[in-house]
Amino acid sequence: MFSSRTNWNLAPNPLSEALARHRSSGRPLFDLTLSNPTDCGFEYNSAAMLESLANPASLEYTPDPQGLLSARSAVAGYYTARGDEAKPADIFITVSTSEAYSFAFRLLCDPGDELLVPAPSYPLLDFLADLHDVKLVRYPLLYDHGWQIDLHSLALAITPRTRAAVVIHPNNPTGHYCKPAEIARLNELCAPREIALIADEVFLDFPIAHTPTTHTQPCSFASNSAALTFTLSGLSKICGLPQIKAAWLVASGPAKLKQQAIARLEVIADSYLSPNSPVQLALPSLLARRGEFQAQVAARLRSNLGALDRMISTHKSVSRLALEGGWNAIVRVPAIRPDEALAVELLESKGVCVHPGHFYNFADDGYLVVSLLTPEPLFAEGIARLLSAF
Ligand SMILES: Cc1ncc(COP(=O)(O)O)c(C=O)c1O
Repeated sequence: MFSSRTNWNLAPNPLSEALARHRSSGRPLFDLTLSNPTDCGFEYNSAAMLESLANPASLEYTPDPQGLLSARSAVAGYYTARGDEAKPADIFITVSTSEAYSFAFRLLCDPGDELLVPAPSYPLLDFLADLHDVKLVRYPLLYDHGWQIDLHSLALAITPRTRAAVVIHPNNPTGHYCKPAEIARLNELCAPREIALIADEVFLDFPIAHTPTTHTQPCSFASNSAALTFTLSGLSKICGLPQIKAAWLVASGPAKLKQQAIARLEVIADSYLSPNSPVQLALPSLLARRGEFQAQVAARLRSNLGALDRMISTHKSVSRLALEGGWNAIVRVPAIRPDEALAVELLESKGVCVHPGHFYNFADDGYLVVSLLTPEPLFAEGIARLLSAF
């Protein structure tokens, strides 16, 4: 009765079963996987948010497949403020980054076509690929004093069916930003083969090491011009507003290809017209307030990372991988059993919930992912308990 693309194994995994048991036992939970920003104790200007959603202009319907010009202009302004460039005419408003991925996959891929995706990375793409009948081919990120793209393996993974290479900039959970030399090589590999780049930049504004005096701000792919490029982002991470459902896609690249892509994307977007007017009208003022959220996140990331490093420094067998950005840290522990079994054991014996590296397609055991968004006291207690297991 059902399509084979929905033939997923829907049984709960051992960690979610253990979590359900733990919650029903009533024992305290030290959850180091919190990633919903609206649930992490940040302050939002509720009055301003609600006011922005009550614009009388939303009583009229003025559909545009690319999204309201006022919303697209605000997104263009976001890139200008970063020192990047994106024109409103090249922007599509979507309800989520996932929907923006979906538009790009629909535009580029026939069933069975291939997309190059990084490993490790966030598992969202597996389901999106199934839903669009495309095949994910993983290219490795290598860790050696910091993460880098294994460009040699990426080149070898290209086949005549490769339609796009996905880069997550910075990647979740490794926190690796693509470096200028990597971007140049990606363009070199993709442009001549008419392979597109899809750059997921939802965590772009959260560099860990950046200070105005020591580092320049990481660049966006939004003005990448050698290969046809689709840059995705949205309010869920940039402004900490996943419930608002507002995101975007920016097309860039060789002029002729870009125009053809935009014309086809217009038909895709016009078939759904999914972004609603109140949210699009509110987007300029919500996006303008991103600094208030980002400053709180930056302080939380710094504080939790400092605490993690202090606590880990007294441990011989546990370390932290180098991190450039994003909301997670990766803790390296002795690989004495599979990561998932270890995560279940930590939950049962210490009440600490962490994501096993396995969840993000790490090639080896011995990696645990902890969310730096966790409120500070909970984070410190959770890490202390985690470390007491080794
Ligand atoms: C790297 C990455 N891209 C995209 C998303 C999804 O973003 P959205 O809520 O805009 O669909 C997530 C969610 O965690 C993510 O980690």
